[in-house]
Amino acid sequence: MSKMKVMFVCLGNICRSPLAHAVFEDLVEKEGLDIHTESCGMGSWHVGEPSDARMRRTAKGHGVNITHYARAFRPSDLDEYDLIIPMDKQNRNDLKRYAGPEHMEKIHLMREWDPQGGTEVPDPYYGGDQGFENVFDIVSRSCRALVDELKERV
Ligand code: 4NP
Repeated sequence: MSKMKVMFVCLGNICRSPLAHAVFEDLVEKEGLDIHTESCGMGSWHVGEPSDARMRRTAKGHGVNITHYARAFRPSDLDEYDLIIPMDKQNRNDLKRYAGPEHMEKIHLMREWDPQGGTEVPDPYYGGDQGFENVFDIVSRSCRALVDELKERV
């Protein structure tokens, strides 16, 4: 079987999805799994930029390095990736506008794996530091549960 590929998606690809990308990639490596990880944004304002300094600082405080440079979603990502994980309902709706019936099963909100429940990973961009810590908590426990599920599959 070919290598599994997972894509995390948010709006700007500078806060939530690059965090999920980095956290998930660290867990995949620790578990010794063979999974390719990527992230992208539904908007293109920040393409080519490093992640938001506040998100990088928060992640670093928890031992996670974010090294991603923002890239925009491409419709071909829907074919190329096996699992496509938007952070909120708006991102999911935007993805679904490009998706054919064969792609629908691949698209799942990040918090479908949150053991504490919840629906969306809130956008921290216009808020304070506490918002970034909250995003870190949600994303890290959701990624942990996702990896635990995938390690039974890959
Ligand atoms: P993200 O946060 O979607 O988690 O990367 C945002 C970053 C930038 C903008 C919106 C959300 N923006 O409007 O520029």
